Amino acid sequence: MKLDETKIGVDNLSAILVIFGGTGDLTHRKLMPALYNLVLDKLLPEHFAIVSVGRREKTQEQYQKEVYDTIRKYSRNKLSETYWAGLKEMIYYYQFDFIDQEGYYGLKNFLEQLDQKVKSEGNRVFYMAVAPEYFETIVQGLQLSDMAKKSGAWSRLIIEKPFGKDLKTARKLNSKLLEVFDENSIYRIDHYLGKEMIQNIMVLRFCNSIFESIWNNKFIDNIQISLTEKLGVGTRGGYYEHSGAMRDMVQNHIIQILSLVAMEPPVNLKTDSIRTEKQKVIEAIEEITPEFLRDNVVFGQYGKGMIDGIPVPAYREEENVPSNSTTETFVAVKLHINNFRWAGTPFYIRTGKRLGTSSAEIVIQFKEMPNILYFKERDIQEPNLLVIRIQPNVGVFFQFNTKDFNTHHDIVPTKMDTSYFSPTQGNTPEAYERLIYDILRGDATLFSRWDEVEAAWMVADQMIKYREQKKHQFPNYDSGSMGPVRAFELLARDGRKWWNI
Ligand code: BG6
Repeated sequence: MKLDETKIGVDNLSAILVIFGGTGDLTHRKLMPALYNLVLDKLLPEHFAIVSVGRREKTQEQYQKEVYDTIRKYSRNKLSETYWAGLKEMIYYYQFDFIDQEGYYGLKNFLEQLDQKVKSEGNRVFYMAVAPEYFETIVQGLQLSDMAKKSGAWSRLIIEKPFGKDLKTARKLNSKLLEVFDENSIYRIDHYLGKEMIQNIMVLRFCNSIFESIWNNKFIDNIQISLTEKLGVGTRGGYYEHSGAMRDMVQNHIIQILSLVAMEPPVNLKTDSIRTEKQKVIEAIEEITPEFLRDNVVFGQYGKGMIDGIPVPAYREEENVPSNSTTETFVAVKLHINNFRWAGTPFYIRTGKRLGTSSAEIVIQFKEMPNILYFKERDIQEPNLLVIRIQPNVGVFFQFNTKDFNTHHDIVPTKMDTSYFSPTQGNTPEAYERLIYDILRGDATLFSRWDEVEAAWMVADQMIKYREQKKHQFPNYDSGSMGPVRAFELLARDGRKWWNI
């Protein structure tokens, strides 16, 4: 991770980070390892404390020991006792049940006392590392105890996905949050935006004349965004059953990537300038009509099969999943962005669990040359492809045609791959390091603004409703395959195919 250190010191960085859900999975697997690595990189403020709020009774020492164990397990850097000691002294465990509204007064007092000790000046980061049904309850508690606003200090709210379960609930949640926090103080996390290659999309596009000048419908045949996973739902069946791939991956990660790939150059690099351009892309997505849904959206659910030679159960056999579940574990969509840059160029997106590969890639397929000088029948001429490899390989791949020296063919595709294998690019603490660091500095560029989230829901909502109303022949793909047959037909009918680079 290379951080922009120029912004350090633009704000008063002293703060207390309050984590609701301090004993939960997210805190242990992602947040604490990320905080540890920030200590290692000396990127945490000097006056800083972490207060983990949890329901369970435990001593400070017990909690610290648990954190120690999880950092050892999940941190990208080996745990060093010296740096751990630095983090340990920042960690406090505060026990209370966050549904008890009275309890917030106690928390408030505790934080104010801690302010004196660590000189955190009343600044707060409230991190909602809890199940989404508690978001409003906690914000209500912060409101009642008047904890969110303190004159001369700042307060930020960090909220994980899912942000609502549809457009209506997202709007309701948002208006509750806005009663308590300003839009500028709400950081809606999409951990994909913390990934290196996602941040690199803008650099690639706007710092290379060879790319930006051809980044449009005149030169690009189609764009594919594929986020595929070998993993099944594992122990998250209870959550996933109400989420499905649309809410879990499309409404957030995929639409965010789409907007970065397709947006116009922002007028500058300020947070709002970038977010405004992203939001315009989402608004320009074509109208979701019944015909669109019928022809351009494919849902799937995995049946049993083999992943890396090991038999795995069907989705309907997973823990906490009903045996007649109609939740989708796969989605493929063909859509257009109806603006001057993109009219006519299709975007194909797909995501799914229990597929044959685990990778995240954006493939830009350029238009082919006319068949006048060299003929495909004789040569192995392939289209130019630019692939932005997000994970597990990170970097850029480019394919172009050259004269072949060794065989009787005249033309062969040359594959230039600058990417490197990075096993730690998954849903790992690394993205959270970047995100937590930005939250502390008050830089919201890598977080979603409300109008982006709202526009994304407008698109996703209709597809989700369509899936809920429609009868499905699920399961319709084997674990270990690349999804349902219809997902292949979606491209084949246009004379195209999914690229697995
Ligand atoms: C999360 C989803 O947001 O992203 C998970 O809830 C999914 O279901 C994960 O597995 C994928 O993230 P990554 O970073 O591993 O690609």
